[in-house]
Amino acid sequence: MEAASSSSQCSYSYEEYNETADWLMTQTEKRPKVAIICGSGLGGLAELLDDKIIFPYKDIPRFPTSTVQGHAGQLVFGKLQGCECVCMQGRFHFYEGYNIHTVTYPVRVFFLLGVEILIVTNAAGGLKDSYSVGDIMLIKDHINMPGFAGQNPLCGHNEKRFGERFPCMSDAYDRELRVLARQAAEEQGCDSFLQEGVYCMLAGPTYETIAECRALQKLGADAVGMSTVPEVVVARHCGLRVLGLSLITNKVVTDYDSTERANHKEVLRTTEKRAKDLQRLVRHLISKL
Ligand SMILES: *[C@@H]1O[C@H](CO)[C@@H](O)[C@H](O)[C@H]1NC(C)=O
Repeated sequence: MEAASSSSQCSYSYEEYNETADWLMTQTEKRPKVAIICGSGLGGLAELLDDKIIFPYKDIPRFPTSTVQGHAGQLVFGKLQGCECVCMQGRFHFYEGYNIHTVTYPVRVFFLLGVEILIVTNAAGGLKDSYSVGDIMLIKDHINMPGFAGQNPLCGHNEKRFGERFPCMSDAYDRELRVLARQAAEEQGCDSFLQEGVYCMLAGPTYETIAECRALQKLGADAVGMSTVPEVVVARHCGLRVLGLSLITNKVVTDYDSTERANHKEVLRTTEKRAKDLQRLVRHLISKL
């Protein structure tokens, strides 16, 4: 009883999402069809937009604000290859202390703005042996580890205007969009480092232990990170089509004799190197929608 009431207290009413969306619609005439959530170090994607209109999160009514380093914290509206898009430059992570409803707040705002496709990007650790640092993994499925532990953004009252109580997740990552992404990769010469696999979300902020990495591999996860899954769950609930891309920024340690240690600097360095390729891929993909 107590758990149920506390989780509904932390969630938002339809009117709150509506207020944010309405405000944005009075500030701009742009009506994006595609929303892009830029992962750590991947905010450069937003710079590619033409006719940009920028809203710092702190200026948007009811919008959460971002605290993590390397995240600008703004919504960027504009055109990519002639397609109206909105980019989140800086996302909200559960490990920053936001509750899971806050992490996913923007997704429902996008839905109310009329967005139909959500593209999510992230930096992830490679679990699969055949993956290399710098690979781009097309997400074909996920394991919602925080969800196993009761942290699912759909817990609490179900708002029917967003979606049904028990949404299907077996088709979370749109098959057609994945086909287009593979085509785009081929045409952009990215196919030699394009992978397709299962993303597992952990809450973070600790990186994984060796035993945890081994367990995740056995569970069928190919990459591990600290984001994306809550946003995808909420997007699927309200019927958005989803495409997910993970940049493999490091290989997880699974060997007790290894002296390697996971570190955020390495992640940022790899991201910097490959970010351009990922941007190119997304831009080309959007021209195919
Ligand atoms: C917000 O709610 C009002 C009143 O129901 C409605 O007219 C408006 O279209 C809604 N805005 C959005 C963006 O859904």
